[in-house]
Amino acid sequence: MPNWNELLQGKDEGLYIYDLTALKERAKVLSDSRHRIFYAVKSNSDLRVLKTLMPFVDGFEVASRGEIEKIRMMSRDIPIIFGGPVKTQEDLKYALEKGVTSFNVESLFELDELQTLSVEKDCHLSIQLRINLADIESDATLKMAGVTQFGLPEEDFIQAVELIQSSNHMQLSGFHFHAMSNNMNVSHHVSYVEAACDFVKQHQKLLPPEPVINIGGGFGIDYQQEKTFDMAHFMNLTEDSSVLTLEIGRWLTGPIGYYAAGVYDIKEMHGQNFVLLNGGTYHFRFPKAWFHEHPFLVVKRQQKRSRRKTLQQVKAVIAGKLCTPNDVFGPEYYFEDIATDDLIIFKFAGAYGREISHLEFLSHAKPKILYI
Ligand SMILES: Cc1ncc(COP(=O)(O)O)c(C=O)c1O
Repeated sequence: MPNWNELLQGKDEGLYIYDLTALKERAKVLSDSRHRIFYAVKSNSDLRVLKTLMPFVDGFEVASRGEIEKIRMMSRDIPIIFGGPVKTQEDLKYALEKGVTSFNVESLFELDELQTLSVEKDCHLSIQLRINLADIESDATLKMAGVTQFGLPEEDFIQAVELIQSSNHMQLSGFHFHAMSNNMNVSHHVSYVEAACDFVKQHQKLLPPEPVINIGGGFGIDYQQEKTFDMAHFMNLTEDSSVLTLEIGRWLTGPIGYYAAGVYDIKEMHGQNFVLLNGGTYHFRFPKAWFHEHPFLVVKRQQKRSRRKTLQQVKAVIAGKLCTPNDVFGPEYYFEDIATDDLIIFKFAGAYGREISHLEFLSHAKPKILYI
């Protein structure tokens, strides 16, 4: 854990800290694996994070032109898998121009475009059809399979296969399954892998000898207990399975990021305590989005202003500087001891932190990033 007082001396306005050393340590756990590791850029697309991860991963999973651009700024040829439920002609054209050849496809419209564009460009594309497996046992926070908008509808499956098979420019190289988000249960994840492998086996005759079995991400963080999914155990348990492709986001970047902001004011309004930060959910929306108690710590600091307010051994809502009652970091939090001018540091803020926040709202300053 860094020396926060030293690192954040004189800093008050909301900012992120990314620990790139810790990121390397986490990435090393994955790079020893026999599976193919892709980093899901959506979880944290900061350039220094991407650069740190590049030597450890087989490639990057992207979901937009902007993400492709970021990856291609670092490398002209590192493999990219392009996913996402709505990829327009413009998106796909851009991808092909940037040398992307691997696509997780979930729409016949997308296949039509890829067929036309691949003929025009005379290039060869590797297609993984995204399959929505409905019956995955899971107590993950979010389910991406089942009744969701993701995947190729069953009724379109045969048409999609025929379209690919009729093309000289596309190959059905395997299937893509991304079924859950923030799963902590290793055995659920292993059963899910088995279900994906079974599906692939059932469709073996459509596929090349070593098909792509892309199981996506979903490896979780227990935000309450500050633990992460036991990745080493998962890797051991899947040691004898077919080679998998993984698209990992949260597990890699979640624990290496922090969001810190100074306490501007403390007040009680009609029986409710509030701690107001020089920052807000426009910087770090995640605890509000999940409305959970996000792990945090208080860094005591010297008083800066002549007026001082404190709270001890009570609960308070943490709020930000936006003009909306929605600018709160989830439910009430318990404070042992907090005062104005102290710092609050939210841990586990490296994944879906800055990236999912409405940074433009009210035109406040964007959060700076400090790197360790
Ligand atoms: C298709 C796909 N792959 C990978 C990921 C990364 O998931 P995680 O951050 O849970 O590892 C996501 C996240 O939503 C996704 O949609």
